[in-house]
Amino acid sequence: MSLVTLKELLAEPLEVHSAVGGFVTFDYASTEAIIKAAEHTGGKAIIMIPWGLAAGQNKPEEYLRNTLSMIRNSSAPITLHLDHGASFEECMRAIHSGFSSVMYDGSSLPMEENIANTKKVVEAAHACGVSVEGEIGHVGGAEAGALVEGGLTADSSLYTTVEEAVSFAEATGVDALAVAVGTVHGIVRGTPKLDLERLSAIRAAVKIPLVLHGGSGLTDEAFQSAVKHGINKINYFTEMSLATSAAVREFVRHCGEQPVHMMDITNHAYHKLEQLIEKQIRLFRLEEKLQQNLE
Ligand code: 13P
Repeated sequence: MSLVTLKELLAEPLEVHSAVGGFVTFDYASTEAIIKAAEHTGGKAIIMIPWGLAAGQNKPEEYLRNTLSMIRNSSAPITLHLDHGASFEECMRAIHSGFSSVMYDGSSLPMEENIANTKKVVEAAHACGVSVEGEIGHVGGAEAGALVEGGLTADSSLYTTVEEAVSFAEATGVDALAVAVGTVHGIVRGTPKLDLERLSAIRAAVKIPLVLHGGSGLTDEAFQSAVKHGINKINYFTEMSLATSAAVREFVRHCGEQPVHMMDITNHAYHKLEQLIEKQIRLFRLEEKLQQNLE
């Protein structure tokens, strides 16, 4: 099945209560875990890389080529998506490297500037057959992955309004729209509260897939409510990374002073990661659960 665009991946009718996970990969093994989880669940997945993570590799072009080759060899439909593209140039470099989808994130800019920049990315990306995600309103927090002790909370003054969502989607022609409705990137303080009324109103007014950033910290019930109220793509990273490192700690502690092979530690940790991703893929496919309950 292999590499597909975000538009193709999210082509299901918007009335179907189902979302696809956007999982941030941090190395080849986590890419493999995402692909295996998609294959085992008979589902699909979005593999996301922020440009800084690719550029920080020893040989960035080779890293992306190899990641693409892993995706192309997969039996599941997978999108390779640039997460939080910071500029037109970054998005173009990602497209040139083979990404099938890019996010241009102008959410901290004034609305007019965000629209103008996003529109430019959309025109160029669509000419290359690549999808674009934009963001209006602002999901703040630790976008660059910083682990803030004690956690962060969402700023409701930056939530997306229905009017902004409608005019942004119409003016830019984006294929998916990230909205701010109560989540925050990174470790969350307390229990995040989603503004479901706002989300429902945006869903009713905007006719393209909606994206929830900052998935970590939400309960299973909150994820399902988000999907039920109109979310189609869920971005997820911090909990993947923390679950993998916690599995390493647990394994090493269990071994005590005994000699241990490195591969046994990594196999254990990435197996835990794969299990977590499988669970999230199934959880996000709410429609399937609703159908099963009816049977
Ligand atoms: P979390 O790290 O909070 O799950 O957010 C990931 C994200 O939104 C990436 O764009």
